[in-house]
Amino acid sequence: MSVTLRKLSHALGAEVVGTDLSQPLGNAAFAAIHDAFLSHGGVLLFRNQQALTREGHIAFSRRFGELDRHDNLPRDRHPEYPELLMVTNAPKPDGKPGDGKYTGQLWHSDLSFTLVPAMASVLRAIAVPPVGGDTMFANMTLAYEQLSDGMKRIVAGLDGIHTGTRKIVDLSADRAEESRRLNPPIAQPVVRVHPETGRKALYIGEKVKCFAGMTEAESQPIIDFLCRHCFRPQFCYRHAWQPGDVLMWDNRSTCHVALGDYEDGFARHLERTTIMGTPSGYVLN
Ligand code: SIN
Repeated sequence: MSVTLRKLSHALGAEVVGTDLSQPLGNAAFAAIHDAFLSHGGVLLFRNQQALTREGHIAFSRRFGELDRHDNLPRDRHPEYPELLMVTNAPKPDGKPGDGKYTGQLWHSDLSFTLVPAMASVLRAIAVPPVGGDTMFANMTLAYEQLSDGMKRIVAGLDGIHTGTRKIVDLSADRAEESRRLNPPIAQPVVRVHPETGRKALYIGEKVKCFAGMTEAESQPIIDFLCRHCFRPQFCYRHAWQPGDVLMWDNRSTCHVALGDYEDGFARHLERTTIMGTPSGYVLN
C-alpha cells in the first residue's frame, strides 16, 4: 500500500495527504508512513487532524516505539498523560508561570541531554498564533555529507557535552538547580550512525557548550562553524503551524528550533509525544 506524499522542501519533509490519524491505521499503511518518514529526511506532516484525541495521539506514536514519560521534564508533562509533553505558553500544570514564547528557542535534538535520546517526536498543534510561532527543521544527514573530508575526520573524534539548560533565557536559581540535578551533562558523539538508514548525521546543536576533553575556548569555534553550517536555509524546512497539524520528526537525523516569532498575547499550545531511541552517550564526571 502507498500513501500520497507532497514534498515540503528540497532539504527534508513530506506531507502525508489524506490520511486521518483518528481512524484505524492498517499495518500496510503504517509501513508506508514509516518508509516515508525514513526516506524524506525524517519530517512528516499530517494536516487537519482535529479529530485526533490525546489517546489517539499516544496510540499512533506508540506504533513507532516505546514512549518517554518525560521524567527529565516533569514541569512540562501533562498531569494525566505522562506520555504528553505540553509545549505551551500557558501557565504550568502546577500553577507556576509559563515559559512564554521561549521554549525550544535554540537548535536542538530532543532529549540529547539524556542517556536515551529521543528517536522521534510527534507534535500536535491545538492552538497557534494567527501569524508566526513557526518551527524550523534541519537535515543533519545532508549537513554531515556536505562537510569536507578533513572536517569529517575532525568531527569523527569528538563528543559534544549536552545540557538541558538554555542560554537565551536565564532560568531562575531553583529551575537551574533542578535542571542540573535531573539532567547532569551528557557527552554524545558528534557523528551518529542512523540505526535504520545506516547514514551518518551530525549530532550537534546550540545547547552544546564544549567537547569532552577540550576547553570551551577551544571548542567554541568548531561548534560555531558546525551550527552555521548545519542551520543554513538550504538544509532546512520552516513549518508554519495550523491548528490540527500533527508533525513528526526524527531526532537522530534532524535538529529543530522554535522561532518564537509571534506577538505576545496569543496562545500557542501544542502537545508532544517522545518516542524513545537507543542508549547513547555517557555521563560526564
Ligand atoms: C520542541 O522543541 O519539541 C517544540 C518545538 C516548538 O515549540 O515548535
